[in-house]
Amino acid sequence: MQSGSVLIVGGAGYIGSQTAKAAARAGLSPVVVDNLSVGHDWAVKWGPLERGELADADFLRGVIERHKVTSVVHFAAHAYVGESVAEPRKYFRNNVAGTLALLDAMLDRGVKSIVFSSSCTVYGERDADAGPISEASATEPCNPYGESKLMVEKIFRWYAGAYGLRWVALRYFNAAGADPDGEIGEDHDPETHLIPITIAAALGARPELGIFGTDYPTPDGTAIRDYIHVADLADAHLRALAYLQGGGTPLALNLGTGKGSSVKDVVAAVQRQSGRKVPVREAARRAGDPAALVADARKATEVLGWRPQHSDLDTIVRHALAWAQRPRS
Ligand code: UFG
Repeated sequence: MQSGSVLIVGGAGYIGSQTAKAAARAGLSPVVVDNLSVGHDWAVKWGPLERGELADADFLRGVIERHKVTSVVHFAAHAYVGESVAEPRKYFRNNVAGTLALLDAMLDRGVKSIVFSSSCTVYGERDADAGPISEASATEPCNPYGESKLMVEKIFRWYAGAYGLRWVALRYFNAAGADPDGEIGEDHDPETHLIPITIAAALGARPELGIFGTDYPTPDGTAIRDYIHVADLADAHLRALAYLQGGGTPLALNLGTGKGSSVKDVVAAVQRQSGRKVPVREAARRAGDPAALVADARKATEVLGWRPQHSDLDTIVRHALAWAQRPRS
């Protein structure tokens, strides 16, 4: 069991709330900071919610003091790739400048450990046949969102040297699924992600799924991604906190399964799990989408002992489907 008070910044969001649940289960006391611009107060169930801004260092210093915070997990970020290209100011101001305020508050109050929500987007464009992506692959983001994540990782490196900051950056591939117990799940507005959209099309909540590109150089012509269950992501964050507590050296780790699924594989899994046909329309490629992104996540297994437990595609879809069909009051 772990102990102490962990600040979960962005803890009312999809992955942050799942991590708050995992933290409570691991014996930690999670304290959520969120401005609820994207997150939901209903998703904060395992500790207090401190509503406020990431960029407000005074507010964060107060929260750290009041709750005797000893470590931080940081999720708060804008995360739409397309929007980041149109509005880079929003992305660099929040994701980078906001994180600087958080780091100021932490270091001013003697908190040195942070686990950071990074992204496979830091790697940028790749050839479809280049194979799984390891942490040694070149980092050349092709949009401001990925650039903002990489900039934060670079800031961590310099802060480690100068101030003794201890950090782990977790580079997720495609977060998916919902809480296996059905307590929390994905709820984005607008929803742009493949699995919830495919499920909505199967359930008749959307007229159809547009398949963005059927001429990719992949076996079935549709784009391939490495879908990783949100509960497996949450588990990795808890392991990363324990790793830092045990004196582990700072590093970036990929989180994925090493297995790619195409858009058509996802459609087939949703049809299997729902027993319904997904109405599809073949559409043009979405700008900026790479053909294939699959993780080489062996380092996370070596360093953290992390192994995905829920991340086969049918389990991911089953949990996401149960969440989409939850009774609503
Ligand atoms: N797709 C469709 N139709 C849709 C939605 C998506 O065909 O209606 C396709 C996309 O073109 C892509 C795949 O399904 O090939 C997965 O798309 P998602 O939008 O679910 O996920 P992305 O791979 O685009 O994005 C994810 C994360 C981002 C992160 C990015 C890194 O959600 O936060 O990976 O590439 F930045």
